[in-house]
Amino acid sequence: MNIPESIDRTKLPAHIAIIMDGNGRWAKERGEDRVYGHYEGVVSVRDIVDACGAIGVGHLTLYAFSAENWNRPQAEVDALMELLVNTIRKEVDELKKNNVRLHVIGDFYSLPAICQKELNEAKEMTAMNTGLNLILALSYGSRNEIVRAAKMIAEKVAAGTMHIDDITDDTFGQHLYTSQFPDPELMIRTSGEYRISNFLLYQLAYAELYFTNVHWPDFRQQHLFEAILNYQQRERRFGKTSEQIQTIKPEHAQGTN
Ligand code: FPP
Repeated sequence: MNIPESIDRTKLPAHIAIIMDGNGRWAKERGEDRVYGHYEGVVSVRDIVDACGAIGVGHLTLYAFSAENWNRPQAEVDALMELLVNTIRKEVDELKKNNVRLHVIGDFYSLPAICQKELNEAKEMTAMNTGLNLILALSYGSRNEIVRAAKMIAEKVAAGTMHIDDITDDTFGQHLYTSQFPDPELMIRTSGEYRISNFLLYQLAYAELYFTNVHWPDFRQQHLFEAILNYQQRERRFGKTSEQIQTIKPEHAQGTN
C-alpha cells in the first residue's frame, strides 16, 4: 500500500465518517442499473477499510443505508439488503484476520431478520478485535437518534433515576447510538453533493467536512489519503482564535463554543 510520507501519523483523525454517495449516478453513466453501482461500491468499501486499518485510524463510520433509503424502489432496497448480507458473509473472516471490529448503528430491528442474524454473528466474531472499529450506519437517521435519546432521558427523569441537572452534552451523547465512540473528526462525502443528509448531526459538531466530486465506486485509498492530508492542513479552532490555538499545547486545544 502506498501511504504518502506527507501524512502525519501522529495527527490522524481519530474517527472518519463517510457518506458513500454516487453509486447510482456512476452506474447510470455506464448505462447500467443503479444496483451495479452498489456492487462496485463494495469494492471501494473494502479498499477504504484496508487503508484505514493500515494507516491506524481508530474508527470508520460508513453511511450504508439511511432511514430514508427505505423509500427507494423495493427492488433496490431488496438488492441492497442482499448485498449487505452477502458482503458481510464473504468478508467476516477477513475482518477477523485484519483485527477489524464490526459495529452497527441505526434502527437495527427494522432490518430484515437475515441481515440482523448475519450482522450479529459478524459482530460476535470480531468482538475481540482491537484494531479498526468499523461502524456501519444502517437504517440510520440522526434526527430519529436524537429524539430517541431525548425520550430515554425523559423517561429516566420521570422515573427519578436521572436528575434534570445531569443532562449535559456528555450525558446526552451517552444516549446516542455512538455513545462508545469518539466524535468523527473528518467527514467525507463523495459525488459532489454538499449536504449532511441526516447523518450524525450531533456528533459532527466539530468535524472537518470534506467534499469530493469522485463517485463512491471510484473512491480509492489515494482519495482517502488526499482527504486526510487536507484535514491535516486545517487549523481546528474549536471556537478559539488562531493565536490561542498556536500558543496552546495540543492536549489543551479542545474546548467548546
Ligand atoms: C448512495 O449512493 C449509496 C447508498 C445508498 C448505498 C451504499 C451502499 C454500498 C456502498 C454497498 C453496501 C455497503 C456495505 C458496507 C456492504 P446513491 O445510490 O444515492 O447514488 P446516487 O446519488 O448517484 O443515486
